[in-house]
Amino acid sequence: MGCLQPAALIFFLVLLLPSSSSLPLCTNSRAPVTLKAPLTFCPYSASSCCNATEDAAIQKQFNSMNITHSSCGSLVKSILCTKCDPYSADLFTIGPNIGIVPVLCNSTSSLSPAQDKKDATGDFCSQVWNTCKDVSILNSPFAASLKGSAVVPASSSRLTDLWQSETDFCKAFGGSANTESVCFNGQSVSFNDSTDITPPKGICFEKLGNGSYLSMVPHPDGSNRIFLANQAGKIWLATVPPQGSRGTLDFDESNPFLDITDIVDSDTELGLMNIAFHPNFTNNGRFFASFNCDKVQTVSCSGRCSCNSEVGCDPSKLGLSNGAQPCQYQSVISEFTANSSSSSPSQATFAQPSEVRRIFTMGLPFSGHHAGQILFGPEDGYLYFMMGDGGSEGDPYNFAQNKKSLLGKIMRLDVNNIPSASEINRLDLWGNYSIPKDNPSADDNDLQSEIWALGVRNPWRCSFDAERPSYFFCGDVGQEKYEEVDLITKGGNYGWRVYEGPEVFQPAKSPGGNTSLNSINPIFPIMGYSHSSLNTKFGSASITGGYVYRSSADPCLYGRFMYADLYGEAVWTGIENPVNSGNFSSSMLPFDCAKNTPIACDHVQGSALPSLGLIYSFAEDNNKDIYVLASKGVYRVVSPSQCNYACPKEKLSANPSPPPSSPSCSRGKYEKLQMKLMLFLSCLIIFFGSF
Ligand SMILES: *[C@@H]1O[C@H](CO)[C@@H](O)[C@H](O)[C@H]1NC(C)=O
Ligand SMILES: *[C@@H]1O[C@H](CO)[C@@H](O)[C@H](O)[C@H]1NC(C)=O
Ligand SMILES: *[C@@H]1O[C@H](CO)[C@@H](O)[C@H](O)[C@H]1NC(C)=O
Ligand SMILES: *[C@@H]1O[C@H](CO)[C@@H](O)[C@H](O)[C@H]1NC(C)=O
Ligand SMILES: *[C@@H]1O[C@H](CO)[C@@H](O)[C@H](O)[C@H]1NC(C)=O
Ligand SMILES: *[C@@H]1O[C@H](CO)[C@@H](O)[C@H](O)[C@H]1NC(C)=O
Ligand SMILES: *[C@@H]1O[C@H](CO)[C@@H](O)[C@H](O)[C@H]1NC(C)=O
Ligand SMILES: *[C@@H]1O[C@H](CO)[C@@H](O)[C@H](O)[C@H]1NC(C)=O
Ligand SMILES: *[C@@H]1O[C@H](CO)[C@@H](O)[C@H](O)[C@H]1NC(C)=O
Ligand SMILES: *[C@@H]1O[C@H](CO)[C@@H](O)[C@H](O)[C@H]1NC(C)=O
Repeated sequence: MGCLQPAALIFFLVLLLPSSSSLPLCTNSRAPVTLKAPLTFCPYSASSCCNATEDAAIQKQFNSMNITHSSCGSLVKSILCTKCDPYSADLFTIGPNIGIVPVLCNSTSSLSPAQDKKDATGDFCSQVWNTCKDVSILNSPFAASLKGSAVVPASSSRLTDLWQSETDFCKAFGGSANTESVCFNGQSVSFNDSTDITPPKGICFEKLGNGSYLSMVPHPDGSNRIFLANQAGKIWLATVPPQGSRGTLDFDESNPFLDITDIVDSDTELGLMNIAFHPNFTNNGRFFASFNCDKVQTVSCSGRCSCNSEVGCDPSKLGLSNGAQPCQYQSVISEFTANSSSSSPSQATFAQPSEVRRIFTMGLPFSGHHAGQILFGPEDGYLYFMMGDGGSEGDPYNFAQNKKSLLGKIMRLDVNNIPSASEINRLDLWGNYSIPKDNPSADDNDLQSEIWALGVRNPWRCSFDAERPSYFFCGDVGQEKYEEVDLITKGGNYGWRVYEGPEVFQPAKSPGGNTSLNSINPIFPIMGYSHSSLNTKFGSASITGGYVYRSSADPCLYGRFMYADLYGEAVWTGIENPVNSGNFSSSMLPFDCAKNTPIACDHVQGSALPSLGLIYSFAEDNNKDIYVLASKGVYRVVSPSQCNYACPKEKLSANPSPPPSSPSCSRGKYEKLQMKLMLFLSCLIIFFGSF
């Protein structure tokens, strides 16, 4: 079977797009800011996509329209002010009116019962038509959809001059809130409130393997194969058994796909932290390993120290114990190839342990908090690299808030365009990569160019929602009080160490100074748990972020984001309600081991509760099934009936899992196209949205 032709695909995508960026997101792709004072013209006082300058510009635009009819005037004002709405990105990306007029709610059915102000929330699109149809408006925004046609009136116009009828008008500007989009009802952004927020009865796991791994990623060919990696530095190619087959993970432990244990330094917080396969791996054979090395032990382990004068840190004053050297441990991303061992990368069963190139190297101030996950963005194809604050209690050097430091950051690198050595030098990069043009540094010169988001402590496991790739979740490990889940957006500041979770944090030591509360616009966690709420046997808390569940095996988990505490005694899932709102609520769920588990689970001593061991990581395969990688083995989420958890949505007769997606029409191509379209659309938004 072949792929759709690009032209057909683009046409198809235009119809589907923009499915949803949602979250609260502004037209500049960034999260809204918290206002220090209410806006004077537009009715926003807490969170907004406008600052005072932009608010004033809207007032000016409104005044220049010279609308004498007061009811129509206030409707037009409310419409112009949606540019300041925390959901402006969604309001302005639908239909032909990109960036000019928001989607006007044209049906009452989408409204939640809470919104009972009938006149204002009813059929807003017809209300606008009926109120304004005979009112003259200078430079009318409602001429927007006529762009491209010759009749763009420069002067005064009435809606009836521009549109034949209410139907035509509402065809162009109307829309309703559904699971994919939001609309404006005259007062606030309206969501389709149809989420079932009842938590599932529990999560049912089967045990598929005995080994302990930190990383698992699906084979990019879409098959039922995965790559598993352990902390010491071995990567295996394994096959996952079909759901319900009672099979186990199938691979030969003595025959790894790659063994780089000799260059990896493995210890409690050090080791092979993650692996990532290029989206086009099946053609180019490229894959990447993120690991730690010790420059005292390994010659190839050398790089610039992250504690340096540019970030106000003196390596000789780090106060290291046990005779450790400053930046003795490095965080490294290396590229490898699966080319040579077979005719095509998909057929490769092993790779040469020699590096193709070193993508990134950075010396670490201490030995902790250097996350190390690497993930290719499903929409943009860039490599996201999670980096912690570098360790030591309370980020004493305030690295996470330091815009010049790469510690405490989420980075975004382009590994498809590798500059020359002299260019790397000129741009002051930390390795063989380039900077995506739309990284946030493009409009914030103070920001080091690699940075995508800042203010994280130790982002331990992030994922993109397979259904809605603009939802980028990270579990971020807390210090003393709060473990958080963040929704990562461009340029977002997640608060550490001004805040720990939602609370102000007081550092015990601050040789690197402090960042004042007022100088940042933190984005607070969407979910999480406080240490005091964890009434567990082993105490201590450290979050392990997971995935939005998108498999069919447990329909009651569908759409829920899973996360756990490292100590393996607590698992939560959270759901967004209303859909697209970015408002999540979560609850802790019981879990159990399936009746049919191929390998028996351990139990907590003197209890019927299964003991999974320490939960290091979650993983997702090509079927979107979710796995837990724990110290005692590999577990997969199975149908809830296998643990006697009632789930009314589960069809109990036959429960076949869908076959893995066909490798012949790779998702990569579709996503590249989608990415181009998104870029194109955001250009349009920027163009039309500027005033
Ligand atoms: C307001 O926002 C615009 C666009 O983001 C920015 O250029 C400008 O500097 C901001 N003004 C203030 C006073 O923050
Ligand atoms: C605004 O409208 C009033 C009343 O219709 C009119 O007298 C005035 O000339 C208009 N101003 C501009 C700038 O068109
Ligand atoms: C809300 O979304 C659900 C699921 O997509 C859909 O069935 C329903 O019709 C939507 N409701 C409205 C009012 O659009
Ligand atoms: C509402 O808007 C949609 C999308 O523009 C349109 O297809 C539909 O016909 C409109 N419905 C009504 C009742 O106007
Ligand atoms: C896993 O360990 C259990 C208990 O030691 C053993 O019975 C089983 O055969 C092992 N299974 C696999 C697939 O290694
Ligand atoms: C994937 O790799 C092949 C072979 O190198 C190349 O022809 C193709 O353009 C690449 N596709 C993308 C989307 O980069
Ligand atoms: C692997 O093969 C692809 C496709 O032939 C080629 O583009 C790439 O340069 C090769 N990589 C290496 C490291 O040889
Ligand atoms: C780029 O990769 C080459 C080959 O691995 C390596 O020798 C070089 O040091 C790397 N450059 C940087 C700046 O890391
Ligand atoms: C930073 O803040 C902490 C807690 O508020 C305070 O104790 C400390 O003195 C401050 N450090 C500096 C360098 O201002
Ligand atoms: C957020 O979700 C909770 C729980 O589902 C709900 O009670 C609350 O009303 C929601 N908030 C908003 C602003 O929709």
